[in-house]
Amino acid sequence: MNTNTKLRPATPIVAVALLAAAMLIAAAARAADAPKIPDTLQQRIAACTTCHGVHGEGTPGSGYFPRLAGKPAAYLARQMQDFQNGLRKYAPMEYTVRQLSPAYMQEIAEYFAAQQVPYSRSPLPPVSAATLQRGEQLVSKGDPASRIPACASCHGNQLTGVQPSTPGLVGLPYDYLSAQLGSWRTHTRGTVAPDCMAVIANRLSDSDITAVAAALASRQLPADTHAQAAGSVTPPLPCGVLGATGDGT
Ligand code: HEC
Ligand code: HEC
Repeated sequence: MNTNTKLRPATPIVAVALLAAAMLIAAAARAADAPKIPDTLQQRIAACTTCHGVHGEGTPGSGYFPRLAGKPAAYLARQMQDFQNGLRKYAPMEYTVRQLSPAYMQEIAEYFAAQQVPYSRSPLPPVSAATLQRGEQLVSKGDPASRIPACASCHGNQLTGVQPSTPGLVGLPYDYLSAQLGSWRTHTRGTVAPDCMAVIANRLSDSDITAVAAALASRQLPADTHAQAAGSVTPPLPCGVLGATGDGT
């Protein structure tokens, strides 16, 4: 065996190694030139603000792109999870949150929960005084004959929501409120069982949905729109999102 046969096959390996090293150096130089993309919260929410607004104010008027600003953080994080799990259905949302980790969603939720932006008044459909009165009755007293609890019994005296998982209803547009109540009935919105809002939405008649959405959307905003303290209400129905188990409805 002569030494040349040993060296010959080694030559291309050296060449490949040198080439690889040169490529690495070039790549490193390019990387140093390229602007570094920082992983900031602003960037994470950039994917959301085209629809929801920079401060989560939503679409004024219709609320087709819902307001996120000021809604309790755990509530917002839960909604993202529900879109991820297919419990809530809206393709662009499902797609946008598909890759997000729970920690990421929590961080984004906290950003929007902390935003304070004014509520905009939204247009009401023409409804009679009797309809508004029926809506107001459902909001503050409910309808025991139809086993509909007062909305205020869970959403708070001023309908501003209750920490950590119950959103406020006051200030939300008529279109958004009636669309959400409809979506629980058509199974395009749901959450962990027992899903108290699905139960309630199914006990409301179509005219009750119009009435309650109109009454809520026409209410004056209270001076303080923050959600009430955790534990300040006793829900009259079990809600999975509030930690209840079983069904007992
Ligand atoms: C293409 C527009 C679009 C984009 C982009 C988008 N959303 Fe949405 N989002 C919507 C719509 C529309 C709904 C309401 C869907 C429904 O209930 O039918 C919604 C609902 C939500 C809800 C539930 C609101 C509530 O009060 O129940 C949350 C939370 C939310 N989006 C967060 C986000 C976050 C966070 C991002 C970015 C990571 C994002 N969205 C990106 C359109 C969008
Ligand atoms: C037993 C407690 C309870 C009662 C009573 C109740 N709600 Fe709710 N509601 C909830 C909880 C909890 C959520 C959050 C649901 C979720 O995370 O999916 C919610 C969510 C909502 C939302 C979604 C808001 C948003 O930002 O998307 C609407 C609309 C709503 N409720 C309307 C009503 C109306 C109208 C009434 C009265 C007829 C009512 N609720 C009565 C517990 C209740």
